[in-house]
Amino acid sequence: MMNRSLIVANWKMHLNVQQASLYVHHFNKVLNYHRSVEVVLAPTLLALQPLSLEVDRRKIHLAAQNAYDKDEGPYTGEVSFTMLSGLVDYAIIGHSERRIYFSESLELIRDKVTAAIRNGIKPILCIGESKPERTAGETKRVIHDQLMSAISNLTAEEVKNVTVAYEPVWAISTFGGENAEPNEIQKVIDYIRYQISELYGAKVSNDVRVLYGGSVDDDSVGGYLALDGCDGTLVGAASLDYQSFASIIDKAFLVYQSKKKD
Ligand code: PGA
Repeated sequence: MMNRSLIVANWKMHLNVQQASLYVHHFNKVLNYHRSVEVVLAPTLLALQPLSLEVDRRKIHLAAQNAYDKDEGPYTGEVSFTMLSGLVDYAIIGHSERRIYFSESLELIRDKVTAAIRNGIKPILCIGESKPERTAGETKRVIHDQLMSAISNLTAEEVKNVTVAYEPVWAISTFGGENAEPNEIQKVIDYIRYQISELYGAKVSNDVRVLYGGSVDDDSVGGYLALDGCDGTLVGAASLDYQSFASIIDKAFLVYQSKKKD
């Protein structure tokens, strides 16, 4: 039986504390609770504390969008995974906006993944090739390098707590939002699982959740979630509207039910 679906809202640098709280207030009214679908909100860091008091944590989990790899020390402006532990269940790590705008290296991302696990926070590791890399036929190499380096410090038991989000840079709304064909995505999801199974065995590879992300909305999401081995989605722009995010969750439930029957 497949894992629960995981549907993550990445609000990026949108919705201030007040707006985030209002969102949750409305979202609670339209959200249908499905046991087979896990819902995660990744608001601005500032909103994590107030939202943690506002959400029913049996129904909605919280994620940080980023944190620093050191647990404590003289690192002005940074927040550690240690400080976030107890507040969030997940942390998004290695998002392409962080890799590109903040020059996050493979090594830094590996250290952040390690720090998250060390502090009991489940990483949502984002990986994906850019448009020029795709055109040059380098997708597999990029996926291999980003994935293998990020999990290289982890034991097989720890890897099971990692969720991998495949987010081709060219499909993310920030970088152009080109439409990705589900059959093209299937090949990469298969490759991600293959890579994990080569290193940690088929059982671990099955336990790791693999998501798709890149301009997903309530129309397009079904096609991705229906893919073999796709356990959910990371939603950016479409998650800023609580109605459309709630519709994505309902779609995920329907797809989960039909996959279970297969
Ligand atoms: P998008 O963002 O849905 O707006 O393309 C996805 C992401 O960046 O995680």
